[in-house]
Amino acid sequence: MLSWDEFDKEDGEEAAKGATATQAAAAGIDKLDNAGGVAALEARAVTADDSEAVKRAKAALDQLDIAEGLAELEGSSARVAVDEKRMINCRADLNQLVPFKYDWAWQKYLDGCANHWMPQEVNMTADIALWKSPEGLTDDERRIVMRNLGFFSTADSLVANNLALAVYRLITNPECRQYILRQAFEEAIHTHAYQYCIESLGMDEGEIFNMYHEIPSVAKKAAWGLSYTRAISDPEFNTGTVETDKELLRNLIAYYCVLEGIFFYCGFTQILSMGRRNKMTGVAEQFQYILRDESMHLNFGIDVINQIKIENPHLWDAEMKEEASQMILQGTQLEIEYARDTMPRGVLGMNAAMMEDYLKFIANRRLSQIGLKEEYPGTTNPFPWMSEIMDLKKEKNFFETRVIEYQTGGALSWD
Ligand SMILES: [Fe+2]
Ligand SMILES: [Fe+2]
Repeated sequence: MLSWDEFDKEDGEEAAKGATATQAAAAGIDKLDNAGGVAALEARAVTADDSEAVKRAKAALDQLDIAEGLAELEGSSARVAVDEKRMINCRADLNQLVPFKYDWAWQKYLDGCANHWMPQEVNMTADIALWKSPEGLTDDERRIVMRNLGFFSTADSLVANNLALAVYRLITNPECRQYILRQAFEEAIHTHAYQYCIESLGMDEGEIFNMYHEIPSVAKKAAWGLSYTRAISDPEFNTGTVETDKELLRNLIAYYCVLEGIFFYCGFTQILSMGRRNKMTGVAEQFQYILRDESMHLNFGIDVINQIKIENPHLWDAEMKEEASQMILQGTQLEIEYARDTMPRGVLGMNAAMMEDYLKFIANRRLSQIGLKEEYPGTTNPFPWMSEIMDLKKEKNFFETRVIEYQTGGALSWD
């Protein structure tokens, strides 16, 4: 580890310079240090050693207009006050992270970082042996592995593209953007994880990655998600009117509540159920890490949506509520169809009817999380072990243990 002691062997002259610098800092950095400014300009002077290329670079910088450059930045040039910060359509400078307004967003960023993992830490030896053994898995179990890798391998890219090409630009808050950057990297890790599984198991990569064009139950989910990113990923799109603000809100509901909050849940349950039965444990371990990341993405999205509603109550009118409710119900229906397609018969102690109950239970939660009426009354959770994996307490425990596991490369257990 680096230590500042290494840099503490200055002679008298260097130490004196250090003292001067400290005094200058104490005088306040907002008063431009004249000596520093002069020294910086002297460095720009052309010297005999300068090549023609260096001379051109220095000459170009002489033309740089600082005021004009900074004026292009988003937001005003003043120091930021907390009450100027807003989730959308904010006019304050977005390059100043603090003071925080949304502490929960920063906390999620910290939690996400503490949760860091990489696919290649997970041992795939047992999975490879099982996958290649003719008696290793039933056809129905193999179908579940293939379909889910097919769906997820492109779904996480859809989410990442939506974040990077649309949402990041339109959410005008730096602590939320900090989390979105973290989330975008996690989506890259998820896509990496599927690639790692596909490669380790020796699957046909073209077949898996193109499944969202070839298998209807996968294609429908992808098409549904894409329809909600089309408008806002146009570089010309901007929020600021009721209609465009609603368009962004629709996108957030589609991606956070439906894609990440419903479309992932049949596959997560199936693969984690496999892991609980000691099958495909390397794939399942990665899906468990992904599920923990995703439950935080979902919670972040819910908080963002609810904050936009608080700051812009006029957007959350009867029409928008009806539309949001319909979106969640459509998503639930598509996921029920996906469950039927991936599980034509009972497998791994579950069947499509149980999954349908589970998805309705999840849909009720998504509806109530954004303040809407539950549409599947009386539904209970047939897979309580899924909640255990996701509930907040465990999530915190996970972070505490994960750091140790990350350092030692230990594996999760399935009991
Ligand atoms: Fe993901
Ligand atoms: Fe995600």
